[in-house]
Amino acid sequence: MKKTTVSLAVIGALFAFGSQIAHAAPDWSKVPKRDVQVFHPGVTPIEWVMKKSDHSGRTGLNKGESCVGCHEEKNGLNFEMKRLAGKELEPVGAPKTMNFPVSVQAAYDKDNAYLRLTFKAPAGGANAGDKENDVKVAVMFPNDKVEKAEQVGCWATCHGDARTMPGADDKKTKYTKEGAYELMQWKSAKGAKAVDGSVTDKRNMEGGTAGVKAEGSKAGDTYTVTFTRKLSGPVVEGKSVPFGIAVHADHATGRFHHVSLGYKLGLGADGDIKAVKQ
Ligand code: HEC
Repeated sequence: MKKTTVSLAVIGALFAFGSQIAHAAPDWSKVPKRDVQVFHPGVTPIEWVMKKSDHSGRTGLNKGESCVGCHEEKNGLNFEMKRLAGKELEPVGAPKTMNFPVSVQAAYDKDNAYLRLTFKAPAGGANAGDKENDVKVAVMFPNDKVEKAEQVGCWATCHGDARTMPGADDKKTKYTKEGAYELMQWKSAKGAKAVDGSVTDKRNMEGGTAGVKAEGSKAGDTYTVTFTRKLSGPVVEGKSVPFGIAVHADHATGRFHHVSLGYKLGLGADGDIKAVKQ
């Protein structure tokens, strides 16, 4: 009798151990959270950012300062949201909620990096062009060929002649002038596939090499989205990896997303968000 109990316990322990190896998913309770604000950027493409008469931050950018360095204060943003919602920078219409926090957690092991984003997606959008997806979440990682990759977040892909910009061609997507970004996206529609893509001279929604997996769920009004991707390309151990986040809330398309500035993900290195090794 006693013998059976013991061996069952041993088998149980082995089972638990085995299943832990099978899903090497991080223990998120051991990973700190860092809030990153995402905001409605209006029509402020890289051409606007780098034009001195439009944006006085240009001089600082040319001296090596980052968007975060000038615009983030105590985890909030110092933007004049009224200006970003006004006619000058937003000719079409701004969402009711101009910014909201996304809580970011990161971890990695010998094969993969894991990113977990938790947020409340606001209603009251100004554009509801995506009928299928209530919410989409994207993360992009520039490689080191992108100009000012460490400073400008996703802005090197954001151009005034891309679709949904005023007067632009509806077929033209985001693009880079040099270098590339890896792009991963989760979509809320049932059965939607995770996007493993890139941004080069155009946006590619497939053909990526990061082996992206994405899982999302909604509890009450809170979304939790977890990305798994290979340690490869710009995302490798020992690096401080630049990245940016975009959330399309309330069926938004194109530029009508809330975006983060450019942050750094530290994989065994310095970072605004340090990935925990597990
Ligand atoms: C050296 C500091 C500095 C840097 C770096 C900088 N900015 Fe600015 N930014 C400013 C200042 C000052 C203003 C307000 C006056 C103006 O528009 O020139 C501003 C205004 C803005 C605005 C308009 C909203 C508002 O509050 O007026 C946006 C959007 C913006 N910046 C985005 C960015 C982005 C994106 C980057 C990085 C690609 C960036 N900035 C880098 C200093 C900076």
